[in-house]
Amino acid sequence: MASVSGFTFSKTWMLSVIYLLCIWFTRVRLESFTCKGHFDKCLCSTTTVECHGETQLKGDNIIDLYKDISDDCERIVITGSNLTEMQPNFFGSCAGAPDLILKKLTYVDLSHNNIQRVNGKAFHCVPNLDTLIMSDNQWQIDKHDNEIGYFNKLPYLKHLDLRNSFEDGTDGSIYFYKLAHIFNDTDMFELDTLDLSYNEFIVLSEDSANTLCELTKLKTLNFSHNLFNEPAMPTKPDCFHELETLDLSHNSIQYLTPEFMKEVDDVHKLNGKLKNVFIHENPFECDCGLQGTWQWLKDTKAPVNKEQLFCSSSYQSMYNGKRVIDLELGDLVCQKAVVQSYVAVKVVTTIIFLVLGVSVLAFAFVHRDKIRLIARRWKKRIPAMRFRSHIRYSSVQEVATI
Ligand SMILES: *[C@@H]1O[C@H](CO)[C@@H](O)[C@H](O)[C@H]1NC(C)=O
Ligand SMILES: *[C@@H]1O[C@H](CO)[C@@H](O)[C@H](O)[C@H]1NC(C)=O
Ligand SMILES: *[C@@H]1O[C@H](CO)[C@@H](O)[C@H](O)[C@H]1NC(C)=O
Repeated sequence: MASVSGFTFSKTWMLSVIYLLCIWFTRVRLESFTCKGHFDKCLCSTTTVECHGETQLKGDNIIDLYKDISDDCERIVITGSNLTEMQPNFFGSCAGAPDLILKKLTYVDLSHNNIQRVNGKAFHCVPNLDTLIMSDNQWQIDKHDNEIGYFNKLPYLKHLDLRNSFEDGTDGSIYFYKLAHIFNDTDMFELDTLDLSYNEFIVLSEDSANTLCELTKLKTLNFSHNLFNEPAMPTKPDCFHELETLDLSHNSIQYLTPEFMKEVDDVHKLNGKLKNVFIHENPFECDCGLQGTWQWLKDTKAPVNKEQLFCSSSYQSMYNGKRVIDLELGDLVCQKAVVQSYVAVKVVTTIIFLVLGVSVLAFAFVHRDKIRLIARRWKKRIPAMRFRSHIRYSSVQEVATI
């Protein structure tokens, strides 16, 4: 009995100790991780700030959170708030006193915050930023054409994630050139990865593509899940020196343009680092318009994922769903080709008629003696017929005169 009660005692004692330890740990945790201000959904430590779904946080009171952010802060993650606007010096302050330049801040995730406007000086006090994630926002870049330089003063940025960052346009389109002038005047010379997927971009012109040449260290360019129909590649010499991956999958490409194919070949030949050109999940039209693309896929040495390209439409749906490179050049026909076959039918008929005509003439020539004979017989009969008809005629006349 004693041993049993002893066991009961030690069990209770142990449970109490565990309970107390838990409370103590939670206290310590709460003490060191609660942010100042009334941001219940935020956790702050000397090196990290993390907020998920903090509705108290707005674009203009974020400074209250900073009162607790120290010079040692390395990582800020704020998601699910309604920030709307990113004001100048959104992080730290480097124009007034006291200055707070966050030199150790390298990682910022601001995804899913309904950010609509980004001030040109928003990132001016975070000189060593390495990663900036701005995905799933509503940036209205097209409405503020004059505000250039959004990404200035980010010389060490390596990863820029702008996946689904822009306002869902009323007409479903945001033109890439509105973004292009940012890259035209940039200091992101260390940028390695640029994710521009899921943005409903429609037009990628040669001019806009050329602005990407400023990003001299770019390794991965992700344009997947847009609406590009005829994407251009940069034509500037000395471009995409470091490019390894170009992702244009899940767009609206039906045929590749000759310029695009040439530039991909050139980048592949000149930089020697290109590893992937993804163009799968595009609605390739397997008709006569695809002949150039098909030929290029057969010939090119560039690392295009040719095995994964399928026909989305074709003349009379014949090759829908077929792999593009499994087709023959002759399979790529259009209605035009059918019109041409009508022409062919006409030509053949004409030839048949000509041959028939010539044969008839030849026959006539070979049997000319017989024909002459028949003709002579007919000649003899014709005057008689004339005579008879004359008689008949005159008899009518006679009848008439009677
Ligand atoms: C977000 O903030 C803006 C202005 O600050 C306000 O008009 C809007 O209603 C807010 N949206 C939500 C979902 O709270
Ligand atoms: C980029 O800048 C160059 C001159 O520096 C200019 O000719 C070109 O039109 C600009 N492109 C865009 C898309 O802003
Ligand atoms: C490009 O982005 C899409 C969607 O965001 C993603 O699924 C894909 O893996 C990315 N491509 C590369 C090469 O990273």
